[in-house]
Amino acid sequence: MRIDILTLFPEMFESPLNSSIIKRAKDKGLVEIVITNIRDFAENSYKKVDDKPYGGGAGMVMMAQPVFDCLEYVENLTKEKGRAVLLTPQGEKFGQRKAAEISKEKRLVLIAGRYEGFDERIRTGLGAEQISIGDYVLSGGELAAMVIVDAVVRLQPGVLGDEDSAKDDSFSDGLLEYPQYTRPESFRNMNVPDVLLSGNHGEIAKWRQEKSLERTKKNRPDLLD
Ligand code: ADE
Repeated sequence: MRIDILTLFPEMFESPLNSSIIKRAKDKGLVEIVITNIRDFAENSYKKVDDKPYGGGAGMVMMAQPVFDCLEYVENLTKEKGRAVLLTPQGEKFGQRKAAEISKEKRLVLIAGRYEGFDERIRTGLGAEQISIGDYVLSGGELAAMVIVDAVVRLQPGVLGDEDSAKDDSFSDGLLEYPQYTRPESFRNMNVPDVLLSGNHGEIAKWRQEKSLERTKKNRPDLLD
């Protein structure tokens, strides 16, 4: 999979995309991530990418032209244009189902907006779908883009060591994940449940299913509706 990220702050991506699972996926050649600076497409000599809002009001608005030119440039870098996604709090809510769907794409183009907002023509004219990672406002789409990259990259075949380890994740079957334990058996008087030490795979599977359900009922009853 190839992922392109369009941003005004390329430096924000340096550490997250060069650590842990994403770094390993890149090193193995399972994913290619390319960052492009929207500011490089500003036409004016000041490299200005924002301006005052028409009609007045506080804050600056991201201009349409650098974003359109940047996306057109990036889309033409390869034969396949890819799926373009604009990160915005007004978009469709991101979740595990969307992550699984996007993970099947050969190419993904993420556009991170900044400032108080962007020119509405970026939303209406760019032909990109809009995604929000939650009901809160971030200072820009960069962190949202990183969230999507992480959730999507770990679903690429071969990225996680054990092929099963994404299958049991929370949300993958609509429920939260069951409790996990590792050594020692007893820690500060807290003990590993006997069933996990029993070696009875049927009982263990049943216990895990029950705990998933119990935890989901308690913490996220909305998932059961
Ligand atoms: N940009 C600012 N807030 C955002 C959010 N919640 N999701 C996606 N992009 C954003």
